Amino acid sequence: MKFYMKLRHKLATLKSCLYDKRLGIDASREFRKAPKAAEDNSFYKDMISYQPVFYGRLEKVLAYLKLTEDDVFVDLGCGKGRVLFFMAQQRIKKVIGVELNSDLFTVAQENLRNLRHRNSQIELLNIDAVCFDPVEVTIFFLFNPFGQSTLEKVLSNIKNSLSINPRKIRIVYYSAQFRQVLDKQNWLTYEGFVENDACLVWRSNQNRGKEVRM
Ligand SMILES: C[S@@+](CC[C@H](N)C(=O)[O-])C[C@H]1O[C@@H](n2cnc3c(N)ncnc32)[C@H](O)[C@@H]1O
Repeated sequence: MKFYMKLRHKLATLKSCLYDKRLGIDASREFRKAPKAAEDNSFYKDMISYQPVFYGRLEKVLAYLKLTEDDVFVDLGCGKGRVLFFMAQQRIKKVIGVELNSDLFTVAQENLRNLRHRNSQIELLNIDAVCFDPVEVTIFFLFNPFGQSTLEKVLSNIKNSLSINPRKIRIVYYSAQFRQVLDKQNWLTYEGFVENDACLVWRSNQNRGKEVRM
């Protein structure tokens, strides 16, 4: 059993490596030099270290989401940018990557320069996720990037942004270590999961915009 799990992991890594090459990027877990990163300079000191998501999983997320040309997608804690460069192959309005670690951000910028193909606008921001203004975003992607404190502040920012720009938003939380934080938000409804509970999705309540305007 262990052997098959290891084999599956190796194959998924290989597939992702080949997919990276096709896009012209390098989003592997490895670093050419040690990242400054071990140091946690986030506001709440709860950064979780870099690990890229496998493309096979992203394909399932994409199939679930059914994105439209009006969608703005953000990866909060984008690392080297694999998720956003994958999503930028879709015809959507914009994809945004937010990454605090400057070494990872530099690689993401290099990847953006080398990216072979894109169908949407791409923006990269080297900031703490708590400082990100989410007002235009419709899809939030998080691959277990940080701890509870940052997550709570990020959610509070998203909630506030709905009163400025009432809209339907979805939050895709991969490897949802702090799912209880999302479950207790009364402005969100749990919508479903992608791939055996590994990735959970919430959406803003339908009448949220109206509620806020009252
Ligand atoms: C598990 S990795 C996910 C990488 C990428 N989203 C992917 O799926 O391939 C988490 C990333 O979040 C970044 N991160 C952690 N805390 C952050 C924060 N407060 N603001 C912005 N990025 C953060 C880390 O540096 C790391 O690159």
